[in-house]
Amino acid sequence: MDKNIRLGFVPTMGALHEGHISLVNKAMTECDAVASSIFVNPTQFSKGEDLDKYPRTMEKDVSMLSAAGVEFVFAPGSTDELYPSSGSLCHVEPAAFSRICEGVARPEFFRGVATIVCKLFNIVQPTVAYFGQKDISQCILVKRMVQDLNMPVEIRVCETMREVDGLAMSSRNTYLSPDERKVANILYRALCAGKAACNNNSSAGGSGFVSRDVISAAVTDVLKTEPMVSKIEYISIASHRDMKELDSVKADTTGAVISSAIRLGNVRLIDNLLVGASENYIYSQAEQSL
Ligand code: PAF
Repeated sequence: MDKNIRLGFVPTMGALHEGHISLVNKAMTECDAVASSIFVNPTQFSKGEDLDKYPRTMEKDVSMLSAAGVEFVFAPGSTDELYPSSGSLCHVEPAAFSRICEGVARPEFFRGVATIVCKLFNIVQPTVAYFGQKDISQCILVKRMVQDLNMPVEIRVCETMREVDGLAMSSRNTYLSPDERKVANILYRALCAGKAACNNNSSAGGSGFVSRDVISAAVTDVLKTEPMVSKIEYISIASHRDMKELDSVKADTTGAVISSAIRLGNVRLIDNLLVGASENYIYSQAEQSL
């Protein structure tokens, strides 16, 4: 492809929804051409996760992408095309991420994501790649990977698309039963309470720092009101730079990524909100120094 063409890239695992299409729309406004990939990447699933039942809707996905203006779709017909059965010697290992909340909950996830995103960037060679904020630790990982490994790709993080009641759009929402779906916005409501606790206390005078316990309690209090929440896997109040947990938050200096994973029945839901300085950092299009 001509080097002067800005190629936008939206990597996906298929089962597309409006959230993916909003990334394509953003790419269409900023790039000369847009490519996408559809590949359910086995290496980012842990044992016992939903690799086999992950929704696969290839025909519908391709027509949604082409209706949105995508010109190139990379959709390997088999896993062997990306992971030859003879095995791979090299992969991308973001070791520190195995200790953050989502990494502890899903041990294979970050190494699998970093490796496949690196492979896809090498194959597609985009100018700029688009990721949804819904998987915030994935976004931060990819931003760090291109910086740390000097990869010539710009990363754009786009705001989470939500259903009318606030539930973050996700391919996995199809797993929710009608009753679970009715209450599934509890996670968003809980995170809003966490963000409000942060902002209210930050503007209440004093040092402006809010302790993580206050924020975490605000999230937990809301989650506890819903009996269908069967488990709170984690509540994380972390730095936007590396997802390391913060002891306290000041909106305009430390910022914060407030994220959580819960189980509603057996269905795992994740979501996050950004506070203060974290918004500027995450949505920024400029190269950031660390
Ligand atoms: O966010 C996803 O759908 C996946 O993690 C990605 C980035 C396509 C890598 O498989």
